[in-house]
Amino acid sequence: MATLTLATQTYSPKKWNLSGLNGISDKTLETHFGLYEGYVKNTNLLNEQIAGKIESGHAAATDLEFSELNRRLAFEYNGMRLHELYFNNLTTGSGAPGDEVTKALATVYGDFETWKKDFAAIGSMRGVGWAIAYQDPSNGRITNHWVELHQDGNLATFMPIVVMDVWEHAFMLDYKPAERSKYIEAFFANVDWETIAGRLVRKDASGTVPTIR
Ligand SMILES: [Fe+2]
Repeated sequence: MATLTLATQTYSPKKWNLSGLNGISDKTLETHFGLYEGYVKNTNLLNEQIAGKIESGHAAATDLEFSELNRRLAFEYNGMRLHELYFNNLTTGSGAPGDEVTKALATVYGDFETWKKDFAAIGSMRGVGWAIAYQDPSNGRITNHWVELHQDGNLATFMPIVVMDVWEHAFMLDYKPAERSKYIEAFFANVDWETIAGRLVRKDASGTVPTIR
């Protein structure tokens, strides 16, 4: 068999300066950044190991290691990307959301407060995962969803607009396990609404929204 060399992708961990958030301690952030870096490392490792399997001719469903490596990839990769979206939508200088954002979030829910209440309710669901407000690019509607772990429940082609980590590691150093609602309020006190605005899917010059076909 000819020797293959796959063009694998290596990801580098990003850095954030979020020291001094409201209700989310620097200690929590430090621990959380460390966990995030683990997802980057494991994503790179899995991609390398999968490439190794392909290059050595072991890319087969009957190869249990090959199957397991591929199953784990979505967990590690989404763990990496969702944490980047989460840290990116936090800021020490949070203010009130602008008109464009409140209007977009109110499209389905009627008003911003109802959207927020629903988002918080989803974030309070039992289990570890994420509350994510996604926008469907095909119609612009923004709806709140639960993502279990990092990979179960993501909606294909939907764009993540507001991303909140509700794994216990996100708040356990600051709050008791039963106090997730306090953490969720802290999250809202630190949301970077400008980043959220930048994520909104907008119509192009011809008046159409980008759609993945
Ligand atoms: Fe996390």
